[in-house]
Amino acid sequence: MDRYKLLITGGNPLRGETSVYGGKNTSVAVLPAILLCDEPCTVENLPDIEDVHVMRDMFMLLGAQVKYDAKRRSMTVDPRPVTAFHVSYQYTQRMRASYYLWGALLGRCGQCEVGYPGGCAIGNRPFEQHVKGLRALGAQVDDYGGMIYAKGTLVGADVFFDRITVGGTINVMLAAARAHGNTTIHNAAREPHIVDLANFLNSMGGRVRGAGTDTIRIRGVDYMHGSRYSVIPDQIETGTLMIAAAATHGDVTIRGCIPTHMEALTAKLLEMGVQVTDTDDAIRVRSERPHRAVNLKTQEYPGFPTDLQQPMSAMLTCAQGDSIVMETIFENRFKHLNEMQRMGAKVRIVEQTAIIEGVPDLYGAPVTATDLRAGAALVIAGLMAKGTTEIYEPGFIERGYEHIEEKLRSLGAEISRVDLD
Ligand code: EPU
Repeated sequence: MDRYKLLITGGNPLRGETSVYGGKNTSVAVLPAILLCDEPCTVENLPDIEDVHVMRDMFMLLGAQVKYDAKRRSMTVDPRPVTAFHVSYQYTQRMRASYYLWGALLGRCGQCEVGYPGGCAIGNRPFEQHVKGLRALGAQVDDYGGMIYAKGTLVGADVFFDRITVGGTINVMLAAARAHGNTTIHNAAREPHIVDLANFLNSMGGRVRGAGTDTIRIRGVDYMHGSRYSVIPDQIETGTLMIAAAATHGDVTIRGCIPTHMEALTAKLLEMGVQVTDTDDAIRVRSERPHRAVNLKTQEYPGFPTDLQQPMSAMLTCAQGDSIVMETIFENRFKHLNEMQRMGAKVRIVEQTAIIEGVPDLYGAPVTATDLRAGAALVIAGLMAKGTTEIYEPGFIERGYEHIEEKLRSLGAEISRVDLD
């Protein structure tokens, strides 16, 4: 139970300028790759969020020398002292991406004993494709007692994913980077952070080609040299801020982002009647008129991202007309809409589809965040609503959004943290 709640008094249009920094999902993929390196590495532009702090703790547990400066957004890790390969559930349950230690520790130590991953309860979240990929490279993988045990001398191979998986693609890229010979990943995920990981591996002397397409080719290398690397900005934080600006009928410029990563969202916002303009590294979102309802279906990149479905469907509760939202990636990502019914949203959920009947207004109410993006969606709902919304369990939001209250306050939102004690 979090010992504080968020209080939001809605109705203020967000206005002004803000910036985004490194992405959560790219940082948690790039950082474990340092374990593959033979020299110290520095990763920059890291977000100051809980998942990055957990990654730092896991490095220290494994024996790496770590210098982390949250203010400067940089972490320098010397992986040379790492010989340990056991990470208990106490650590791994704190984040989903702890499963990237499987590929990274196999590459470094030839073995790993790592507790089950944690992460948001947004569905079943199996990992048999990760295991299939690592086995294809020759690892012996066992799964019992809440631990994953893997070991073996890795040899490059063809890996065919039965379905597109971001985590599985990253794990196999990590394992293959130091395997003997060539690996080809077929049906690979194409998310921007897959490209970012490939660029980082290549900056250390890795040989990764084709990231960003559905076929990634990796030639294992014998040595990786140190690197200084800056991770790409957070696509999902950018999108969440874009939606918050539109949902409050505001005018916000978001700097430091990559507009081409946002095209699926931008297209939907334009369809709703929102104005979106961009330059090389900034996006301006303005909205004056009522929003038109739209239909959307989540898909792998470059489709509409599941991580933005929750904030987007929160905004659609006040669009004019009926919107149909299909969630195809995770089966349990509509919990925020259930909470929002208490705020006056009219929603019917049938299996993986939400039918949203737009209402003129939402009203403040007490609601509970059930996962990271549900929390972000409820913040947006609170910003849109008349009156005051109380959000319980807001700690989820800190896992992925850096200083969200300060950021929103600087844009004119009335948002504060209240102790429950
Ligand atoms: N899947 C399987 N078997 C597997 C792996 C995945 O069936 O072995 C299924 C999943 O159950 C899901 C689909 O494949 O239905 C896609 O899962 P994927 O592996 O792509 O997702 P992930 O790696 O677990 C990452 C992000 C998520 C984001 C998804 C989709 C991290 C740490 N997590 O999860 O981020 O929603 O990709 O883009 O990178 C978030 O940031 O809030 C978040 C949940």
